Amino acid sequence: MDLGLYGRGALVGGASAGLGRACAERLASEGCRLALWSRGGEALDRAAEQIRDTHKVEVTTIAADATDPAAAAQVATAARRALGRVEIVVLNAGGPPTVESTKTDPNVWRRSFQLLAITPIELTTLLLPPMRTHGWGRVVSILSSGVRQPIPELSYSNACRSALMAWLKTISVEVMADGVTVNGVLPGRLDTERVATLDRMKAERMGTTAEGVRAVMERGIPAGRYGHPDELGAYVAWLCSDRARYQTGTFVSIDGGSMTTLP
Ligand SMILES: NC(=O)c1ccc[n+]([C@@H]2O[C@H](COP(=O)([O-])OP(=O)(O)OC[C@H]3O[C@@H](n4cnc5c(N)ncnc54)[C@H](OP(=O)(O)O)[C@@H]3O)[C@@H](O)[C@H]2O)c1
Repeated sequence: MDLGLYGRGALVGGASAGLGRACAERLASEGCRLALWSRGGEALDRAAEQIRDTHKVEVTTIAADATDPAAAAQVATAARRALGRVEIVVLNAGGPPTVESTKTDPNVWRRSFQLLAITPIELTTLLLPPMRTHGWGRVVSILSSGVRQPIPELSYSNACRSALMAWLKTISVEVMADGVTVNGVLPGRLDTERVATLDRMKAERMGTTAEGVRAVMERGIPAGRYGHPDELGAYVAWLCSDRARYQTGTFVSIDGGSMTTLP
């Protein structure tokens, strides 16, 4: 199916690895021109090179730390310089630390809120006006199943992402008439370095192995396994496509059936 994405300019966050990388691969396979953003370094350069070689599309890299209050403006400027028109933005970066929920720290709250709410909100705010003027734009945010079903040790994530989701829902109503859609995906447990790290940390707390933790987790997922990042990337590419033009303000679980509540 032709998603109608050929030549579109897309900025993808957290694109050196994991879910962001999977989104970038899918968008590249549809012919998008890409600006890949992460904190930078070898992994980001390697991702850009591999995507360029495989899909024969223009790929630029942007290095900025999403916990830095200056990052959004810096990334927006660099993305415009690289792509001309930024027609698609995939909001994504790393996750915050785990914590015992009754022992949170104000400084970590501030840092997490910058990472997961303020930076993506400011970045979107900067990128929206040209999308609206040209009558076409896509904003897709990678959130977490924790916004629907809070995850005990991920208080910072549960709360800060909920703030972002509420804002995205609010603006989705305002920008739809200008051809801009705003959606999100809620991953459950997809097989990335972040999830492997969380499993290792849980194993240490419980005095077991990461493999043991994973096996227990997988038994709790109706699909019986962790998801593959491309199973999210393919859906994000769909949300970015012209065919998804009537879909906005939605937040869809990608979790192998783990969510037991109604959406
Ligand atoms: N995987 C899952 O099942 C799952 C489930 C729920 C929520 N999530 C959330 O989805 C997001 C992506 O997850 P993932 O599993 O793909 O994580 P990942 O494998 O750890 O990848 C994170 C990506 O974000 C970049 N990054 C990390 N910190 C950053 C920062 N401060 N500023 C800019 N870029 C940063 C990393 O690149 P650099 O190191 O090059 O900066 C990397 O490209 C995370 O927020 C995660 O918490 C994931």
